[in-house]
Parts: sequence; structure tokens; C-alpha cells
Amino acid sequence: MKKTFPSDFADLLTPKGRRILKGKDREVTGALLDPARPFVSLQGVIDAKKATACRDALDAALRDTLVPMEDPIPHDSISGMTMNYMELLPKTVRNRTALLENRRSRSYRAAEAVGLTDMMRSDSFAAFAAAVTGRALRRKWGIQVLCYGPGDYSGPHNDHHPEEPEARDGYVDMHVSLTMPGADHQYLVYAKDGHFTEMTRVSTVGGITVYRLPFWHYTTPLLAKPGREDTCRRWVLLGTFLDAAPGARAGSTVLPAGALKGAPEARSPAREATFGSGGGAGRR
Ligand SMILES: [Fe+2]
Repeated sequence: MKKTFPSDFADLLTPKGRRILKGKDREVTGALLDPARPFVSLQGVIDAKKATACRDALDAALRDTLVPMEDPIPHDSISGMTMNYMELLPKTVRNRTALLENRRSRSYRAAEAVGLTDMMRSDSFAAFAAAVTGRALRRKWGIQVLCYGPGDYSGPHNDHHPEEPEARDGYVDMHVSLTMPGADHQYLVYAKDGHFTEMTRVSTVGGITVYRLPFWHYTTPLLAKPGREDTCRRWVLLGTFLDAAPGARAGSTVLPAGALKGAPEARSPAREATFGSGGGAGRR
């Protein structure tokens, strides 16, 4: 099978995307160092034609290998209540996933065949996340593929992991959205100043969203265009990145291009290392 995905994530990028990767985009470089900004949504950074070709190859290869992921509203969440206004809602979700950690799984082999695993493991994939967050990230990162079908969603949650020392002070997710033509819309809704007031469309072809978790958010149900349910799917390529440990070796770290050398915000564990050539740290 032809490897439709390039082995290097940088080869998917437009000139604007490459500028971000090199830390030369004033608006985006280090944008997530701003504690008031939990995530960045980027358009026009992945070449539209390449994104469409990759989406179609991914859909054909992985569509039948996915595992359902379903956590419904607990059945006794209403009947079990004994006091007014004391309802509690754990994270609810329905979508499908391809865990790519098991090399023998059907999903892994299919993802490998189209070149997806190589691309998601390429240095520039992590370097893009590092550039946008302005943080040094651990070189070993997690990769996963999600697929939302008609009506699939995730309910309000915050992705906090207080039991994991490496993640409890925050971590980074990067999502690449590859939405099929039958999808009409899907949004990410997130909290600002304690209310779910913010909303951004995620049903894009080649849009990238980068998150500094935890923060409260949910994903609205994927709605199909009338009569187009058969091709109503939104694929998400997901990378999860931990902050580099203090004092970690440069070889185990992905540094943020464009970070101001020596700036404490750069959070680099290896200050002697050379930062990217870009001088435009866009921190506001
Ligand atoms: Fe989430």
C-alpha cells in the first residue's frame, strides 16, 4: 500500500505552518505560555490538498479497525439522587479509537501501511507542539487516533491527571482534524472565567488545535449533512506530550523553536542548548 502520509510531519505544512514550526510566527510562537489561554486553533497550516488525500487514505485504511469507546450517563444518575440540585456528571463520551501502542493490532498495521505512525512519530510533529506551547517537551510522546461518527461527542471534562506526577502540573495535547465531507459541524466548547462561554469549530480538514491541559471543555455531537451520514466522520490525530523533566538531557527533549533564550517562560531543562533560530517569541 502506498504511504500517503509523509514520513516527516513538516512535509504536510504550508509556508505558514513551517513558519510556526520554526518559531517565526509572532502570533503563535509560545502562545500557550499565556496562562489565560488554554488552547490555540490553527487554520491554513496544513496543505489542503495533502490533508484531503491523507484523510481519504486514513478513512479507507482504519475505518473497519476501530474500537468503540463509550461511557454513557450513569443509569442511576437521576434515580439515585436523594437531594435537589446535587446531580454529578462524570465524563461521558462516545466515539471510536485506534490505540496505536500495540504494534500487533489491526489499527496499528493499517496506520503503518498508510504512513501515519511514522509521521506522528516524526520529530517535527513534537516540534510543532513545542513551538506553539513554548515549552520543552519530552521526546517520548503518546499517539492515538480517534474517529467521531454521527452523534459522537464527549461531555464536559477537564483531563486533569492528579495521580500522575508527570502530568499533574499540566501537559500538552495536539490534535489534527481530518473531517469527511458528510460531516456538517462539530465544536469544541470550553470554559472561560468559570463558564462554558467559548466555542470553536473543530470539524476542519487539516486544522490543528494545541491544548495546555487541564481545563474544562466538551465536544459537541458530530452532525451530518442531510442524507450524508455514510461519510459523516471526523478523524483526529492526537499527540500527548509531557513537559520535559527539569535537568533532562537535551537528547530526550524537544525544545521550542523561537523561545527567547534564557527566558524563564521557555521552561527549558537544558538552557545551554541552542534554541531555534526564530527571534519572534510571540508571548503577550
Ligand atoms: Fe478532552
